[in-house]
Amino acid sequence: MRTVIAGNWKMHKTAHEAMELIDGLRALSAEFPDGVDVLVAPPFTALQAVSQRLNGDERIKLCAQTMHWENQGAYTGEISPVMLKEFGCEYVILGHSERRQFCGETNQYIRLKTRAALAHGITPIIAVGETLEEKDRGLTKDKVVTQTQEALTGLAEEQIRSVILAYEPIWAIGSGKNDDPQNADATMAEIRACLPALREVPILYGGSVKPENMAAYAAMPNINGALVGGASLQAQSFAGIITAAAPAVAR
Ligand code: 13P
Repeated sequence: MRTVIAGNWKMHKTAHEAMELIDGLRALSAEFPDGVDVLVAPPFTALQAVSQRLNGDERIKLCAQTMHWENQGAYTGEISPVMLKEFGCEYVILGHSERRQFCGETNQYIRLKTRAALAHGITPIIAVGETLEEKDRGLTKDKVVTQTQEALTGLAEEQIRSVILAYEPIWAIGSGKNDDPQNADATMAEIRACLPALREVPILYGGSVKPENMAAYAAMPNINGALVGGASLQAQSFAGIITAAAPAVAR
């Protein structure tokens, strides 16, 4: 199983700042453990600059934060898979809770986007997760299993095997209150069990991941890496998380 550490920069970094961060990461990339796939997801406006700055560096792959499902058309403000591929984007985050919350993304949209990404050879990282209220009402499993199944419904097993999932409890995002690694692992085991093809799919944990807590996640059997927000905005802390993910590689 692959181990993946993805940095979701969200709405941070101008193109200029993004290049500085890439330079910082490249300066540390010799320390990245073998077998960890390192991804950065800058805002759209920095993709070209980051792509050029990476200059073909195989250690760091480019990821987008969302995309539309059509190749082109009258969709003001949207970006298509064809446009992402032009800058060498190999991955795209789909269904991040902030897109679901602020941009009205539904499971149906995420299904269309997942199909489009696969059709274009872009690996989708499909994010699922529950709110604090859902957690308190014991609805975590229902929520994440429904989100996962609705994103993947109708896909062949072989297609499902080429996605990546991310479990991000919404209450843990940006709050400093990361989920207990054993709780996260148990939820991720339930996600993995909901479709047979998910046995071979990497599942990332996201929500207040830091260099200090990554090792505890990497030790869990169902956790194959992390989707990192705040701590990916600084080269040293992101590199610390990548290094701490090494124990997951052995699985
Ligand atoms: P934080 O790491 O800032 O909690 O963000 C997590 C996240 O939403 C990554 O997609």
